[in-house]
Amino acid sequence: MSPEAWLVERLERYGQGHLLRWWNELDAGGKAGLAAEVAAIDFAQLERLIAELVHGETVAAPPAHQVGPIEVVRLPQTDGERVALRRAAAVGGDAIAAGEVGVILVAGGSGTRLGFEGPKGTFPIGPVSSASLFQIHAEKVVALSRRFGRTIPLYIMTSPENHEATVAFFEANDRFGLDHLRLFVQGQMPAVDRASGKVLLASKDHVALSPDGHGGTLAALAAPGPGSTPSCLDEMRQRGVRTLFYFQVDNPLVRVADPTFLGLHREADAEMSFKVVERLAPEERLGVIVTVDGRPQVIEYSDLPPELAGRRHPDGRLELWAGSIAVHILERSFIERLVTEHRLPFHRAIKKVAYVDDAGQTVKPEEPNAVKFEQFIFDALPMAARSTVVETDRAGEFEPLKNAVGPDSPATVHQRMSDQFGSWLEQAGATVPRRPDGSVPFGIEISPLFALDPAELKSKIEPGLVVERPIYLH
Ligand code: UTP
Repeated sequence: MSPEAWLVERLERYGQGHLLRWWNELDAGGKAGLAAEVAAIDFAQLERLIAELVHGETVAAPPAHQVGPIEVVRLPQTDGERVALRRAAAVGGDAIAAGEVGVILVAGGSGTRLGFEGPKGTFPIGPVSSASLFQIHAEKVVALSRRFGRTIPLYIMTSPENHEATVAFFEANDRFGLDHLRLFVQGQMPAVDRASGKVLLASKDHVALSPDGHGGTLAALAAPGPGSTPSCLDEMRQRGVRTLFYFQVDNPLVRVADPTFLGLHREADAEMSFKVVERLAPEERLGVIVTVDGRPQVIEYSDLPPELAGRRHPDGRLELWAGSIAVHILERSFIERLVTEHRLPFHRAIKKVAYVDDAGQTVKPEEPNAVKFEQFIFDALPMAARSTVVETDRAGEFEPLKNAVGPDSPATVHQRMSDQFGSWLEQAGATVPRRPDGSVPFGIEISPLFALDPAELKSKIEPGLVVERPIYLH
C-alpha cells in the first residue's frame, strides 16, 4: 500500500519526502504511527525555523552600549531591609493561606548529561536517605501546605518520553502525600540534520522528536487535559489560583513557594519574577538578567559576548552579575495573555541525535549532528508589564544535578545538601563536625516534613545535640 496522497503531498511541499523512504517495509501499526507523527508537525513553522536557525545567520547579541545591569532586591544588609523581607514573607504567607498559590515543576527534559535511566526526578539524591528529587520537592509542598493550612496544588510537566514512568513513580509512592497533584505533558519538536535541515528519522517508523524546551510549559498549561478535561490554566482559575511558583526538577535546594519571594512579587505587582545569584566569573554557565535599552531580558551565557560578560565595576565586581537560577513566579493572568497573544521564540540547540541513514542503519553520532528547537521560559520576561528580580544566596538555594561526574553531579549535590543541613543544625544550636575547608565530613539530611528551615528545626531537636555520624531527620 502506498502512502496516502495527503501525506506525500504535505511532505513533498516542505522538502521532507524522505520521511516516507521506508514506508513499504512498515507494518500497519508502523504506518499509522508515522502518519500520526507527521500529521502533528507544523511544517510551515518548521520551515521558518530551519531557514532562520539552521541556514540563517546566528542572532547577533545586542550592541554593548544598549546592555546594562538590572535592578535587584539584594540580600539584606541592614535591619530595615530584614524587616522589609519579613513583611514580604507575611504577604506571601497570606497568599498561600488564601489558596491563591500553585506550584509548577518542570520535569520534561531528557536529562542526557546525567545519563540516568528513567526520569531525572526519580534520581535518588538524598545524601543519607536516597530520597528522590521528586520526593524532596513533593515533601516541601506538603510541609508548606500544612504550615499555612491550605492545599498548594502541584503541577508537574513531563514529556511524552517520560510521562508514564513519572506517573507510575508517583502512584507507587502514594503521591508522597500530596493533596493535589496533576501531571501534564509538554509538546515535542522534530530534530533536523544540522547541515541539510532535513528532519531526522529516529527509526524507520518514527520521526526523531524531542521535548520543545521549558518554554513549552506555557502552551502545555493551556492545552486541554486527557478526555477533554479542563486545561491546567482553566483548573487553576476554577480553584482561585492566581500566582504560580515555577522551578526545575534538578535543584534539590530550591525553597519551593518561598513566601518572601512571593511577597516581594506581590508587593511589586509583578507579572513575572526571577531569583538570581551573583555570578562569580564571566564564563559561568548561567543565564544573565540584564536590561536592553532599559527593558529586562535574559541573555544565555553562550550568547553573551565576552567583552560584555566580563565588564567590571571599578571595584572589580562584574557589572552584569545577576545569574538566573531558573526559579520564577508567574501570574496566571500573564501566562494566559502569553498563550493567546505571543509565542516565545525558538532557540537552536546543537545536539547528538541518533538517526536512520539512507542505508537503513541506525547511526549514533560521535559529534553533534542535529539541531533541536526549544523555547525558554525566561524569554517571557520582556513581555511582563512589571517584574522583580530577587537575589538569593547560592549556597542556600542552588546546586543543580546536571552531570554524572564533575561539577553539578551527585557528589557535589550530596556535599552541598549535607553542608546546608549541617549549618541549619548549627543555627538550631547543635554541634556539627567540619573539615578544615568548612565542609561537613559525612551525610546530613533533614526531610522537609521534619523542618523546612532552621527556625522550625530549632523547635524539634534536643538542645545541645552533637552530630557524630550520618543522620537523617525525618
Ligand atoms: P536542562 O536544560 O538542564 O535540560 O533542563 P535537560 O533535558 O534536563 O538535561 P540535558 O540538557 O539533556 O542534560 C532544565 C530543566 O528544564 C526541564 C528539565 O526537566 C529541567 O527541570 N525541561 C527542559 C523541560 O521540562 N522540558 C524541556 O523540553 C527541557
